Amino acid sequence: MKTLDELLVEGVNGRRVLVRADLNVPLDGKTITDDGRIRAVAPTIKALADAGARVVVCSHLGRPKGAPDPAFTLAPVAKRLGEVLGREVAFATDTVGSDADAKAVAQGDGDVLLLENLRFNKGETSKDDTERAEFAGQLSAFGDLYVDDAFGAVHRKHASVYDVAKLLPHYAGWLIAKEVEVLSKLTGKPEQPYVVILGGAKVSDKLAVIDNLLDKVDTLIVGGGMMFTFLAAKGYEVGSSLLEKDQIEVCRNYLERAAELGVELLLPVDTTTAAEFAADAEPLTVSVDAIPAERMGLDIGPESAKLFAERIAGAKTVFWNGPMGVFEFPDYAAGTKTVAQALVDSEAFSVVGGGDSAAAVRTLGLPEDGFGHISTGGGASLEYLEGKTLPGLDALEK
Ligand code: 3PG
Ligand code: MG
Repeated sequence: MKTLDELLVEGVNGRRVLVRADLNVPLDGKTITDDGRIRAVAPTIKALADAGARVVVCSHLGRPKGAPDPAFTLAPVAKRLGEVLGREVAFATDTVGSDADAKAVAQGDGDVLLLENLRFNKGETSKDDTERAEFAGQLSAFGDLYVDDAFGAVHRKHASVYDVAKLLPHYAGWLIAKEVEVLSKLTGKPEQPYVVILGGAKVSDKLAVIDNLLDKVDTLIVGGGMMFTFLAAKGYEVGSSLLEKDQIEVCRNYLERAAELGVELLLPVDTTTAAEFAADAEPLTVSVDAIPAERMGLDIGPESAKLFAERIAGAKTVFWNGPMGVFEFPDYAAGTKTVAQALVDSEAFSVVGGGDSAAAVRTLGLPEDGFGHISTGGGASLEYLEGKTLPGLDALEK
């Protein structure tokens, strides 16, 4: 695939460049709670603008349903992007309508314009190829060239990620180039012991990655909400914790397969529980074989955290995706914090994947440079490790 470096050598002065970014950041109302994705793509946008391109940036935010929805406006992101870039960022109140047209026409060399949320348009995520192609056609009118730097969205076959690349000369931005360089080290022959830590709410989101990694890792650690389905598969009562009943059998199979392969599938031995899902709920740590019926586990317990940290300390390669508990609640953040700290302390090549784990690292105040790499992609980094063909990367290759 051609990269931004090659494009900069070709020269972009006065040319219109459409940049797909992943500016899907967590918001608390209109306040951005983690701007990691904005900072991660900023160098690409800055390089293009500095080189005199007329840059039109597009992105999705959240999952609006194909029509404008003020709860998902990119307006706060435009403001923050301007601060990060240290230059003015114009904002269009529509994606491909009259405001976007007028603001694009008004651009001078080196100007940056952000279009409103791509997903306010049905064509962006449509399963219908024609509908998607039509929207891609409208979008491509904003650029002579297309730079994709939305690593977090490369696993989506969406108009701005996949179809636009068929219409314009296309290049991978610096963020995509970096992400692929790092993640490809994990799909090759990672240095052993190779430890993977999976967390997050749902085991059903992680099935493919477990399938694909089980015979490659030395230890697979499971925490977060998904641990309870594994615990149930081992016959434990999990109280009112998150449980995917329809996946218990699947988890049982993983436990059996791991045993056959001689892979350690490490589950928590204790959990910190609450009577209700609330930040001020009184925490109570119990052994996993003694979870009270009316309580829910919201974090791994301290014994588990210690055990997980020991495995991480002994690893040469670590991949971590998904928090160990509800880290947004201070009383239930300890597990995630201990695991993250263990990664920082380890000498291993460590990769953090996933919007939530990356946000956790920053929310908990851990040094970003303590990790080998913090991926901006959640689903994208998982699907990359699953060995799947990612539509966005595929489109850039062609
Ligand atoms: C993400 O947050 O994982 C990416 O921005 C993709 O968002 P999506 O899962 O809504 O497609
Ligand atoms: Mg380290």
